[in-house]
Amino acid sequence: MHAELALVRADVDAAIARVLDSGVFIGGPEVKSFEQALAQAANVSHAVGVSSGTDALLATLMALGVGPGSEVVTTAFTFFATAGAATRLGARVVFAEIDETTLNLDPRAAASACSDRTRAVIPVHLFGHPATLPATSVPIVEDAAQSLGGPALGGIAATLSFFPTKNVGAVGDAGAVLTNDAALAERITLLRTHGAQPKYHHLVVGGNFRLDAIQAAVLRAKLPHLAAWTARRRLLAQRYLDAFAAAGIPEIRLPPAHPQHAWHQFVVCAQDRNGLRQHLAAAEIGTEIYYPEPLHLQPCFADLGYRPRSLPVTERVVREVIALPLHPSLPEGIPEQVVGQIAAFYRKNGVRPATGNP
Ligand SMILES: Cc1ncc(COP(=O)(O)O)c(C=O)c1O
Repeated sequence: MHAELALVRADVDAAIARVLDSGVFIGGPEVKSFEQALAQAANVSHAVGVSSGTDALLATLMALGVGPGSEVVTTAFTFFATAGAATRLGARVVFAEIDETTLNLDPRAAASACSDRTRAVIPVHLFGHPATLPATSVPIVEDAAQSLGGPALGGIAATLSFFPTKNVGAVGDAGAVLTNDAALAERITLLRTHGAQPKYHHLVVGGNFRLDAIQAAVLRAKLPHLAAWTARRRLLAQRYLDAFAAAGIPEIRLPPAHPQHAWHQFVVCAQDRNGLRQHLAAAEIGTEIYYPEPLHLQPCFADLGYRPRSLPVTERVVREVIALPLHPSLPEGIPEQVVGQIAAFYRKNGVRPATGNP
């Protein structure tokens, strides 16, 4: 069972039973109540519950008029959905370079990638690190799938995912869009039910992007714990940063701290990343690689014309990143143990100090 689910299991069981007893499984009062609580927690005027983080992106881009002939600027170092949503609408994705320290979309590169065809820029608060938004008149949609509890809304909308491993996870797929723009919220609400208003009278072509009542009820039960879980993630991340500072390992580049960091993942850049991963696995320390291939070189985007070395920083980073264990129920001593194992690996293998070259 997910550790966070275990902490609130009784409340989640009661929420699910309430939905089963009500017989209302799609939309209804549970969705409304969750949307209100989410808007309040995120300090925005509108939260629209949808079926996933992917559909949150899709519905928001649809509402902004993204379609054939338009361009969407984003990062190639993110989960696939960020770029997939724009492509599915017939738009051309323009990948801009990332900042090598934050690993987020470089705001200057993003601004200069905008043209008169650009309908949206999508910075991603990757791993929970708040992305600096580019200075541009183009609407900014923040992909906040990994940063709930972190940065405040700065663009026209932020899209959330409640995939079970996210900082607040559903018991299936779920997502939401946050915005202070009432017309945009209304448009996304319309799009999530096939553009129908009233029922069976279709003003626009939308989709089935609805949030299930069970997911809404479960999320409503978990949401009050977000602040405490984020505080715990921050404490554990600081333990990693302190342990790394004490160990002084030049082969590791650390994620920068930020007061609004949601610390969805603790990701470092490591020399001989694959060797280090094997060493940690042998010590029974689980790690993950987010993400092993940059989006601009994926087969499905071959027609965009990117080549190896089109985005050199992004291409280097995908070979260096490794996510270390971090979740609210992680025992406090673990960061020190993990850093101890990493120090032991580099002592044994004598990898040269980082030079900045691949
Ligand atoms: C950055 C990012 N964007 C979008 C998504 C898509 O969310 P979902 O899996 O809920 O569709 C995810 C998560 O999976 C994500 O991490």
